Amino acid sequence: MKITPNNAGLGARVEGIDLREPASPEDFRTLLRALGEYGVLCFPKQDLEAPQVAAFGKRFGDLEVNVANLFHAPGHPEVMILSNMKDEAGKPIGLNDAGQGWHTDMSYSKEIALANMLHAKRVPRRDGKVLGATQFRNMHAAFADLPAEVKARIEGRVAIHDFSKFWDMMRQRPGSIRGPLTPEQRAKKPPVEQPIMRIHPITGRPVLYCNCGYAMHVKDMDRAESDALLDYLFRHQAQDKYLYTHEWSEGDVLIWDNIGTMHNAVADYLPGEDRYILRVQVMATLDYAALAA
Ligand code: SIN
Repeated sequence: MKITPNNAGLGARVEGIDLREPASPEDFRTLLRALGEYGVLCFPKQDLEAPQVAAFGKRFGDLEVNVANLFHAPGHPEVMILSNMKDEAGKPIGLNDAGQGWHTDMSYSKEIALANMLHAKRVPRRDGKVLGATQFRNMHAAFADLPAEVKARIEGRVAIHDFSKFWDMMRQRPGSIRGPLTPEQRAKKPPVEQPIMRIHPITGRPVLYCNCGYAMHVKDMDRAESDALLDYLFRHQAQDKYLYTHEWSEGDVLIWDNIGTMHNAVADYLPGEDRYILRVQVMATLDYAALAA
């Protein structure tokens, strides 16, 4: 297995491993460490079916079944289908998540996610240019760069994160097929508190864990002060120096650290420019410090 970091400060390419086979304990430990270190790991030229996507994802933690899970692989509710494609009757066959903006998956949940794992089957292109990239920002670096005065202000502070902020924003987008959340769905995902700074479970280093997709306000802080602080943090973390853009190829398996990065799916492709991706969400349910030691 060969791991080659790219030169963006985020992201690495992992070759010489067939993800259809279970990774050895040593390889798994190396991968886990690399996930913490590089944030985004791309395994090119893989060819996995839904059960194999689920099996690899499960090595990293329990897999989530989304409360609003609209599309999944047959027999695998944990393997979501992300796609803009339609069946012969013109019905969508996957969730089209393009244009959702920057966020950190599951920060709205008490139990947070360690990682996302996606496997690209169809990638849109126009005039030879790859479309539908996924972008990432490095939240280890964003925290490290904060002025000491801001670090002191956020020390011990928590922000309230709410699933419905993001869902309701997405529903406003033209062409959205998302319905309003049902009272049951809302009850399953009440607003939660998250530390603004948290220690990353693999690296042991602090990360900025506060994203504009779900963070609403800082608890126990005057609303104007909270708005100004969140605005500062959102602008700080949006700087280009933290950015890495992954341009997909068919066969890529991409696993990203959902604690140490934020992400954004670029909405630059049109209906008929097909994108089809299998996705699992890995919850942070294991003792990663011990596994990575
Ligand atoms: C995701 O947020 O898990 C999906 C990102 C993408 O579709 O590029």
